[in-house]
Amino acid sequence: MRVLQAAAEAVPLVKTGGLADVVGALPDALARAGVTSRLLLPGFAAVRAALKSPRTVTTLPCPWGGVPPLLVTGRLEPFGDALAYVVVSPKLFERPGGPYSDASGAAWADNHRRFAPLAWAARALARGADSRWQPNVVHAHDWHAGLAPAALAYAGLSAASVMTIHNLAHQGLFPAQTFLDLDLPATAWGVEGVEYWGQVSFMKAGLQHAQAISTVSPRYAQEVQDSALGCGLDGVLRAHPGGVAGILNGVDYGVWHPRADPYLVQRFDAADLRGKAACKAALQRGQGLHVDERALLMAVVSRLTSQKGLDLLLQVLPQALAHGGQLVVLGQGDADLEEGFAAAARAHPGQVALLRAHDEALAHQIFAAADMVVVPSRFEPCGLTQLYAMAYGALPLVHHVGGLADTVVDATLEALEDDQASGLAFHRFDPISLEAALRRAQLLWSRPAHWSRVQQRAMAQRFDWDRAATEYVALYRQAVARRSALATLA
Ligand code: ADP
Ligand code: GLC
Repeated sequence: MRVLQAAAEAVPLVKTGGLADVVGALPDALARAGVTSRLLLPGFAAVRAALKSPRTVTTLPCPWGGVPPLLVTGRLEPFGDALAYVVVSPKLFERPGGPYSDASGAAWADNHRRFAPLAWAARALARGADSRWQPNVVHAHDWHAGLAPAALAYAGLSAASVMTIHNLAHQGLFPAQTFLDLDLPATAWGVEGVEYWGQVSFMKAGLQHAQAISTVSPRYAQEVQDSALGCGLDGVLRAHPGGVAGILNGVDYGVWHPRADPYLVQRFDAADLRGKAACKAALQRGQGLHVDERALLMAVVSRLTSQKGLDLLLQVLPQALAHGGQLVVLGQGDADLEEGFAAAARAHPGQVALLRAHDEALAHQIFAAADMVVVPSRFEPCGLTQLYAMAYGALPLVHHVGGLADTVVDATLEALEDDQASGLAFHRFDPISLEAALRRAQLLWSRPAHWSRVQQRAMAQRFDWDRAATEYVALYRQAVARRSALATLA
């Protein structure tokens, strides 16, 4: 089996969130499971710079005129000898700002033109454009690659496609007239195709045409099939003959392990937590917090967007700090959240710090320093920060939803008694429930023997990529079988 992984992000080259961590780790895990896969990425400046020994495979369409993007293959520096494919177009990808939006945070107006070429590249490769490697499965991640399953289907190619939803709230919706830029046949414009209530939807295009659909936790796989979290696509998902698989993300423990983390002032593990105390003191000192090992140090490492539910944390913050707790927030995003945490830092000097940045080193240092990582998301497809928190001996405090519910066992009295607890959870998304969970956290913190048992349990958890890879291989097989069954029918 040869699998093309089509995505917009991959660690360590391009990252805005967990998608990058997943796409960066999956190929190696698949290789260990006996499946070769190659990445297909847009040629953002960092990707172009990492591309070694480039060879042009083919010229891609450019329906709007101008210089067409090129499909280029080569090695990507951080990934060793593995070959990858890159869509090269300086005009589309080499711009200041982020992968999806400009420096002011506004989505690029031509995003449909920027991501449609991933689909054409997948189609060209499935057709045999690279005589040295032809995928028989295209694995499309999120809406950015969502057009790929549609492009394969309308071209009548035999490669199977798998669509993974990392976040259904982002769908790649564009005005109807953009359809003319997509290089798809007119028949694709319809309710069975890429059209969604009069617009083009890249996500729907993927869901409608892929032979298999998955999302990144079992619970979110159920949630997206219901109107509350289905973001208008729950009907499409329920109708898919293959159902929606829920494959929990793993953690790359080669990158995320406190015993071998180069970013930490002192390394540690579950057997010897002295290094964690040193990391905590260093962070407190470095960020202007009171240096106090007895203060419960809470942390947030997150995009500051409505999904993450941090408005709820702001509402209950005074109570959360009342017992001497501290909060460090690493993140940037919505102006009201940035301003809310900045105001909290001004109101509680020595107790609250806001680091308005995207900083990989600081993220590692904060997981290592924190006693608790708060993830009150409204919805969460999987969530990785609660997993990193556990690996670093910080207890996650989470809203019991999506992947957070699948990975964190609340420290109820029963779970404590059975030695199953790995964090804290609240069930209703409202300030009273979050406040109650924070109060329980404070009480647990004041009982060091109990805290330590939960911490040990959390640190012992393993969310392995090898397990996830085995599940993906099974899904690829299902997609291949369904694709050949369709060919027989045709
Ligand atoms: P999402 O993908 O929805 O943002 P995840 O929990 O799956 O949420 O993944 C978030 C990833 O982004 C994690 O690797 C986390 O460490 C990282 N991250 C989030 N905010 C920041 C930040 N400000 N600086 C560095 N890394 C961050
Ligand atoms: C998305 C989700 C997050 C998930 C990540 C990786 O960004 O918001 O929950 O962990 O993708 O799959």
